[in-house]
Amino acid sequence: MNKKMIIYFSYTGNTKSIAEMIQRELNCDILRIETEVPYSDDYDAVVSQGQDEVNAGYKPKLKPINVDLSKYDTVILGTPVWWYTYAPAINTFITENNLSDKTIIPFITNGGWLGHTVEDIKSATGANVINPISIKFNTSDLSTNIKDIKEWINSLK
Ligand SMILES: Cc1cc2nc3c(=O)[nH]c(=O)nc-3n(C[C@H](O)[C@H](O)[C@H](O)COP(=O)(O)O)c2cc1C
Repeated sequence: MNKKMIIYFSYTGNTKSIAEMIQRELNCDILRIETEVPYSDDYDAVVSQGQDEVNAGYKPKLKPINVDLSKYDTVILGTPVWWYTYAPAINTFITENNLSDKTIIPFITNGGWLGHTVEDIKSATGANVINPISIKFNTSDLSTNIKDIKEWINSLK
């Protein structure tokens, strides 16, 4: 079995756009994680709220997820960087689901400060974390070379 699934969280849409790019190429299943209480449209307020949530190790309640993870051995996990680590919604997801026997391939969008996101995914999941990519955006404009992203996606085939 070598079945892959894309699972991602996205607040402003950057991680979503990359997730959908990967999905078009790999044609695999895809799941968007969403918090039960949506984040506000006030970006600066969310930046501040996110800092509190990350510092507290907060795990927001997620909308119900209907997926049988046992059918997949590889999770292509997408998150924006929130305060140098993965977003709180990903914190909830990886706490509520045992991924320790999976391979995780992270794609991490950020504004240039990746922090300790990859290491945190490793230590929180105990999974085999391989082939991570950091993808930089300037607000909503992609800064990482699209060719590099396409090469990375091809390496997943
Ligand atoms: C709460 C919050 C915290 C952030 N912290 C960081 C950070 O530590 N480092 C960084 O490079 N970018 C940071 N950013 C920028 C996002 O990681 C970046 O814009 C990302 O691509 C957004 O992805 P999304 O559109 O899928 O939500 C932060 C954004 C938010 C909203």
